[in-house]
Amino acid sequence: MSKKIIITIDGWSSCGKSTLAKQLATALGYVYIDSGAMYRAITLYFLRNHIDWTDEKEVVIALENIILDFQFNPKTQQSEIILNGENVEYVIRDLVIAEKVSDVAAIKQVRSFAVAQQQLMGNKKGIVMDGRDIGTTVFPKAELKIFMTADSSVRVERRFKEFFEKNPNITFDEVKSNLELRDYIDSNREISPLRKANDAYVLDNTMMSMEEQFKIAKKLVDEKLA
Ligand code: DC
Repeated sequence: MSKKIIITIDGWSSCGKSTLAKQLATALGYVYIDSGAMYRAITLYFLRNHIDWTDEKEVVIALENIILDFQFNPKTQQSEIILNGENVEYVIRDLVIAEKVSDVAAIKQVRSFAVAQQQLMGNKKGIVMDGRDIGTTVFPKAELKIFMTADSSVRVERRFKEFFEKNPNITFDEVKSNLELRDYIDSNREISPLRKANDAYVLDNTMMSMEEQFKIAKKLVDEKLA
């Protein structure tokens, strides 16, 4: 059987982590896990159920009622997130969720809940997981760690295009301030803030095409598998 490794991709919001993670998972026949989707689904549950997430007890009880799962959709060829039996892959991409998710993801109990499940998913290796703390906290011993970055103006432009296709009423400034605020909270929170792991390879894709970034990452994988 061929060697299987764990690949982690961390970095700032909207710098193309999921695109690269999907490219690699498809090329290698690995499982792709979007850890951000888990924090988004938890945020959706909290909002829908009016959970006061500043109250530790309420958070603990709410988490006991959350079951997260990933299901492969053969149509989109992607694994999609399931919250208590409901496919919420598309609902969680809304700006309403993006506006709250960093606060929810900073909560200690929420992080323990998500990280424990993420670590289980890596048991058999053969996985590409993207997020903010995957190379530092979830899989500190991963064989390949990539830290992605891109100029903030490019990142805002990319995310704005994505949102605008779904909602033409959205403004550039709304997207920009959401991205800046999330990056600030994600990298300044107390528990596992966004950091580059010491042994991570930095990939700045500001001036790169999707093909170019894939080529670089694939070369790194091949070196690890050699
Ligand atoms: O990758 P994303 O934008 O979908 O992630 C949504 C939020 O979830 C992000 O702003 C911070 C949080 N997150 C996190 O704290 N840790 C992770 N491993 C992944 C995401």
